[in-house]
Amino acid sequence: NIVYLNGEFLPIEQASISVMDRGFLFADSVYEVIPVYAGRPFRLVQHIERLNRSLNAIRLSLSDLNIQWNDLFSELISQNNLQQGSLYLQVTRGSPSKRDHRLADETQPTVFIKADCLASNSSKTQNEPEALKVITVDDFRWQRCDIKSTGLLANCLARQMAEDQQASEAIFIAGEQVNEGSASNVFIVEQGVIKTPPLSNNILGGITRDLVLEMADNNGWPTEQSSIRLEQLYHADEVWLTSSSREIQPVTQVDDKTIGDGAIGPLWHKIVHEFADFKQ
Ligand code: PDD
Repeated sequence: NIVYLNGEFLPIEQASISVMDRGFLFADSVYEVIPVYAGRPFRLVQHIERLNRSLNAIRLSLSDLNIQWNDLFSELISQNNLQQGSLYLQVTRGSPSKRDHRLADETQPTVFIKADCLASNSSKTQNEPEALKVITVDDFRWQRCDIKSTGLLANCLARQMAEDQQASEAIFIAGEQVNEGSASNVFIVEQGVIKTPPLSNNILGGITRDLVLEMADNNGWPTEQSSIRLEQLYHADEVWLTSSSREIQPVTQVDDKTIGDGAIGPLWHKIVHEFADFKQ
């Protein structure tokens, strides 16, 4: 596995960063996961735009480095001979000489990119879709979930709570309001309307979320971005999870409640069919 680190392409075993790196010390760092289909990054422009929003939000500038993401990704994809999979990209505020909460700006950022082969758990299995069970947990994260930060301890703990109950994802609930999964966005279908919580500081604006809304619009399927209560989730006709690694996955159980009649819903089949066309 060849990775990119601060201007160099090298085997992952040889890639190392300082123990003083602020990504390590403070999770002072942001990231992206970009799908790769047929050897090409998927929705690249959208991912880079979101990266730039995250960088701006944490006041980290890469302008001195003059990075050409396109060239780096192409090179990494070709060096790893990657056809289907994803790119993991992380930028940290680098390694100052001393641990200091203040954001010193003379430090050179750390830029890391890794190519990963296809994860086995996503919904590529259009022909043999797996219906998922998820749990809900109290949203105990910080209030800037719109930033794609690597500070993911709460997300990891929630995901493990799901794992402990043989569930595939944990959905964060604040009060009565459905926010998102530990690493995914949530959709419900209610009387034919595809609904997802609106963009806010409580959720990450998923690139897959945007694509689902776009595909629905293209097909004239009604959508609504509005807050969703836990009761609505339990009583929805369909529930889906979306992310760059999961793509669009159907959920048929939330906590101890069966969704709809317990079978994967018709709109999921339609949207996944659309998605397959988009990936070509
Ligand atoms: N996670 N919400 C959270 C908290 C996420 O971590 C993710 C993605 C999403 C979906 O975003 P997108 O559709 O752009 O992938 C929503 C990535 C895949 C991860 O952490 O591995």
